[in-house]
Order: sequence, then structure tokens, then C-alpha cells
Amino acid sequence: MASKTLIIGACGQIGSELTRTLRSTEGVENIIASDIKKSNMTLVESGPFEILDAKDLEAIHSCVKRHNIGTVYLMAAILSATGEKYPKKAWDLNMTTLFNILNLAKEKVIKRVFWPSSIAVFGPTTPKDNTPQSTIMEPTTVYGITKQVGERWCEYYSEHYGVDVRSLRYPGIISWRTKPGGGTTDYAVEIFHKALEEGHYECFLSEDTELPMMFMDDAIKATLSLMNAEKESLSIKSSYNLAAISFTPKQIAKAIQQEIPDFVIKYAPDYRQHIADSWPNSIDDSVARIDWQWEHDFNLKALSIEMLQKLKKTELT
Ligand SMILES: NC(=O)c1ccc[n+]([C@@H]2O[C@H](COP(=O)([O-])OP(=O)(O)OC[C@H]3O[C@@H](n4cnc5c(N)ncnc54)[C@H](O)[C@@H]3O)[C@@H](O)[C@H]2O)c1
Repeated sequence: MASKTLIIGACGQIGSELTRTLRSTEGVENIIASDIKKSNMTLVESGPFEILDAKDLEAIHSCVKRHNIGTVYLMAAILSATGEKYPKKAWDLNMTTLFNILNLAKEKVIKRVFWPSSIAVFGPTTPKDNTPQSTIMEPTTVYGITKQVGERWCEYYSEHYGVDVRSLRYPGIISWRTKPGGGTTDYAVEIFHKALEEGHYECFLSEDTELPMMFMDDAIKATLSLMNAEKESLSIKSSYNLAAISFTPKQIAKAIQQEIPDFVIKYAPDYRQHIADSWPNSIDDSVARIDWQWEHDFNLKALSIEMLQKLKKTELT
């Protein structure tokens, strides 16, 4: 019997889209969604769903056995902005959950793992433009620290125990179906909602803060391409740099004004400015482009049009 796939943190921004896409390609019954709470009822009702605490190794083990799971996507985490409010909680959750899954793979209970890293692994001493795959990494957020340490452990488990774990350093992910969950790039989603609902937006980052970003469809495409790639073609055992576009709040506001000319943006930077200032402006993802032929589809204009059209339609239905 072919093994199934378990998505942990499936109600979240990326997990929900990943579940939806995998269910449409692999069959609804083959994708088991799980989360600590039922925070997305559309997702919960779209196929098999389990309440699962990713910190509870016994519970995951039993779920894996019950459903004959071969592949796990570990999407549960505390993100950058929330992590700064609850550093100990972020460290505990982000590290315990990763070890749980890596150890199940080490014991050969599961065969393949996806674990997302982030551009938050970089810090103020990292070269800011076209940040290379291998470079100085001195993250200053607890979230970035968990991701950097996580990458080291993924490589360690791969080298020492032959674990097939694959990872991407996601940039800020922009989506219309699900709202983001407490990251520093969340403004790039909120801005579309506010543009349509109120015609104006107060941005928590300054106008010239350039950050690497990506439309959700590209993030899902990258994730599945990496997971479907031949193991032999993957030269990076920690986490791949991944990029699509980079822009500032001023530039995204301009792209929105092309569609909604009266849209007004104001700037009121808060504690998240400090986090954003420590991250790169743009990422060199040439290793991903060579190893598994990564190519993005959405630029800023295409993404803005798609976001506004889809959100308008959602509000009308
Ligand atoms: N969204 C982004 O822009 C972005 C960028 C870089 C990296 N990432 C990474 O991608 C992954 C998914 O991010 P996201 O934006 O979908 O996050 P999210 O906050 O939207 O979703 C995380 C999900 O995990 C669940 N969860 C929390 N604690 C749990 C536990 N103990 N057991 C089971 N589930 C639990 C939450 O209920 C939530 O549904 C994370 O590892 C994140 O660090 C995201």
C-alpha cells in the first residue's frame, strides 16, 4: 500500500494552501491534515483532519502509524514578530517539533520530511543585496535563531543518519485565501485587504524597507518541486535560498494605485522595523535554479492584480 502524507500546522497560511494543492494532485484521502486547533474550517472539512500537537512525539508517532504516513510537511511554528513577544515559547515550539520529526525519520518511521526555513536566518552582518546561499549568518531574532539552528540539525541528520529532509528559506509569502500568522512581512498581505475595504493603509514598516517576497502559488510550486526532485540532484542539505521578487512598501503601494488610484498609504514603523532592517533586500537563489530548475512565475504587477481580483471575488461571494 502506497504511503500517505501528513501536514502538520495545516490550518496556517502556507499549510492550508499546501494541503489544498496536494489533495487535488494526490487524492483527498492520501493527504492527512493536522493542526493543534481547528482554525480554518474550510480546510478541516476538505478531507481527513486530526487534532495533533506537534510537540507531542507519542501523538505524532501514533498518527503516522494509523495512517501509514511516509512524508511529513512540518509547517507548525511561531513566526518572527510573535516570536519576539514570546521568545521561550518560540524556541520550545520551533525546536521540539523539528526534533520530533527528524527523530521519526532517523528511526525510519517516516521516509521524507519538508521543514521550512526563512530569510530570517540572515542578520545585520549578512550582505544585504543578492545574499548568497553560503554567507555570514548572525540572526538577531529568536525566530531566526531557531531557523538557523534547525538548518544545522537538518544537515546533521542528513549527513550522519541519512535522513531525507528538504528545506527552503522562504521569503515573505503573499496569499489571498488565508491571512498570515505573525510575521514581519505580513504588511504585504494586509495592504491588499485594507486597500479594498478602506481605501487606505497604515504600514508598520518604513516606505523604503526592501524585502524578498513571493506569491503563494510560487511558494507551493517551489515546495513541491523540491520534494519531487531526485535526491541525488540536491547539493544543499541544510536549506535552499529561494527568491522571486523584492519590493518596498512604497513600490507595492504604487502597484496597488495602478488598480485603485485613490489608495492612500501612511507609514508608522513599529518594533517590526527593527526585524526587517536585519534581513536581506534580495536573495541569490541560483543554486535552487540549477539543482532543481526553480523558476518563479509572479512579478509584483501580476501578484498585485491577482491579489485584488481574488480578494474582490471572495468578498462578493
Ligand atoms: N508565511 C511566511 O511568510 C513564511 C516565511 C518564511 C518561513 N515561513 C515558515 O513556514 C512555516 C509555515 O508558516 P505559516 O505562515 O503557514 O505559519 P502560520 O502561523 O500561518 O501557521 C502555523 C500553523 O501551525 C499551527 N500550530 C502552532 N502550534 C502548533 C502545535 N504545537 N502543533 C500543531 N500545530 C501547531 C497553528 O495553529 C497554525 O495553523 C513556518 O515554519 C514558518 O516559519 C513562513
